[in-house]
Amino acid sequence: MCGIVGYVGVMEAGPVILDSLSKLEYRGYDSAGIAVRNDETGEFTLVKAKGRLQELINKTDGGMALKGTCGIGHTRWATHGEPSELNAHPHHSDDMNVVGVHNGIIENFQELKDKLTRKGYKFYSDTDTEVAIKLIDYYYKKYLGTPVDAINHSLVRIRGSYALAIMFKDYPGEIYVARKDSPLIVGVSDKGSFLGSDVPAILKYTRTVYYIDNLQLGRLTKDGVTFYNLDGDEVQMEPVTVDWDAESAEKGGFEHFMMKEIHEQPKAVTDTLNMYIHDGVIDLSQTGLNDEKLKNYKRLYIVACGSAYHVGVAARYAIEKLTHIPVEVDIASEFRYRDPILEKDSLVIIISQSGETADSLAALRLAKDRGIDTLAIVNVVGSSIAREADHVMYTYVGPEIAVATTKAYSCQLINMYLIGVRLAELKGMIDSGQTEKYIAALYKLPSQIQDIIKDKERLQWFASQISNQQDMFFIGRGLDYAIGLEGSLKMKEISYIHSEAYAAGELKHGTISLIDKGTLVIGIATQDELYEKMLSNMVEVKSRGAYLMGITCRGNYNIENAVDFAVYIPKTEEIFATSLAIIPLQLLAYYVSVARGTDVDKPRNLAKSVTVE
Ligand code: AGP
Repeated sequence: MCGIVGYVGVMEAGPVILDSLSKLEYRGYDSAGIAVRNDETGEFTLVKAKGRLQELINKTDGGMALKGTCGIGHTRWATHGEPSELNAHPHHSDDMNVVGVHNGIIENFQELKDKLTRKGYKFYSDTDTEVAIKLIDYYYKKYLGTPVDAINHSLVRIRGSYALAIMFKDYPGEIYVARKDSPLIVGVSDKGSFLGSDVPAILKYTRTVYYIDNLQLGRLTKDGVTFYNLDGDEVQMEPVTVDWDAESAEKGGFEHFMMKEIHEQPKAVTDTLNMYIHDGVIDLSQTGLNDEKLKNYKRLYIVACGSAYHVGVAARYAIEKLTHIPVEVDIASEFRYRDPILEKDSLVIIISQSGETADSLAALRLAKDRGIDTLAIVNVVGSSIAREADHVMYTYVGPEIAVATTKAYSCQLINMYLIGVRLAELKGMIDSGQTEKYIAALYKLPSQIQDIIKDKERLQWFASQISNQQDMFFIGRGLDYAIGLEGSLKMKEISYIHSEAYAAGELKHGTISLIDKGTLVIGIATQDELYEKMLSNMVEVKSRGAYLMGITCRGNYNIENAVDFAVYIPKTEEIFATSLAIIPLQLLAYYVSVARGTDVDKPRNLAKSVTVE
């Protein structure tokens, strides 16, 4: 996600803003920008730079080239519009009456852009932010009110998430802020008022901060901050003293980015769903895949690596059940060398968080060389795979810092579910009632994920019991086998314990010889029709001495007759069970890694993006 900062006070704003932006670099970004108002002339100076923040620092002589004590800054993680100087923030009205920065996603930006275009506005960028800024300008001029009025008029029309910092030509020495769902804090000191997307941005200047509530506004001046509600009435806020050090502040108070990102999954899933479901209808048009095209695909090929591949394995079960069209799943490094037979009227789906994985990019190019339609499911706007695929369906999780993927994996699943349900609907395999049922189940997932995370201490305890294991087995049938694949990879890659996922029905064909007294086996049983068979597989390994953990849905309490430790997940549509069953496995891997003292966020030998073969 983007980072916003701002300052107004007695110091030169430029250097403060650049310093605050540097504290948000860990969040990942592709461009940056700054706007400072000249105290004498009242004019705004805007400078933007694509790439690293150092570019902006060089362009502005460390911020000293921008004279003035009031300004805002931004690091951009592109969601709408390629990474470029033009799309970088701050954005402004054409007469520079309103200048602002934004972190979040304006879901109805196209509708608002069309409205403003009808009112004579022109647009220089592809961003949703420029639309928001010009909407505020429009209401400021239409109602001739205060900045608070103009912002309030805009907020009631904007759908989505936002943290905004805005300056108005007619109001020198003032910065206005507003937020909904995106983080925003304000700090005060004797040097002035500060704002940032996250505590690290302002920690150097003050530990006295205000956490702005949803749909609340703030007016920052050198003497302090005033808060308002949506009606424009002043509201009182209590300051909080931050006692974090800088490093823990970057992780939002969590010990590791991985745990922070596990906790971000409910919001990431909500943001991703909101991008593709409008008024109860799954709308994939922004990917460029129209309904006619989608409806005509007779086969899907899913190609990816690592956890993204595991998304494909889980998605295959879900999509085949929904659509009855065949779905093949390949590891990208295998696909590109097996000279695959690709049917026409099919779609190759490349899943990649980074959008830069060499094997996945090669697989994409192979599919394109064969004249097969390609769809990329990626998290990074402007990445190689995003640029080269015929169609792109982004996940909206913001930058994922930990090498072990969690929130990106979860939202890749969401995108695949949406494709499956939409395809099934277009092919007449499900009716509107069933579609509604699936959409309702999807919207319940975030709160159910939150529910599971709340119970994390039980997994922390169990992790302490198993952290000295030498081997672990994750067993499941059908979709539960796919879940086991990802649970095993999470465990391996951050705890360094050897583990493998195995189709439970296949154990007796050899691997069960490895089960010895105390061998840890994690049985996953979320699929009703396979539950009894899974139970007997668990009893099988238990009778050979295994130490058994079981994951199943609430209600299946008879599992406790077989296992040593049971974990329950809320009931959901069975094809969506992966999204819930994976959460305890992410947490278990995390806690085992912490117990073993391995580097959770940067495991040995691994990179966040594998750009080599
Ligand atoms: C997952 O935790 C790993 N970091 C790794 O398997 C990763 O999923 C794989 O390298 C694919 O990366 P991508 O999604 O960026 O293509």
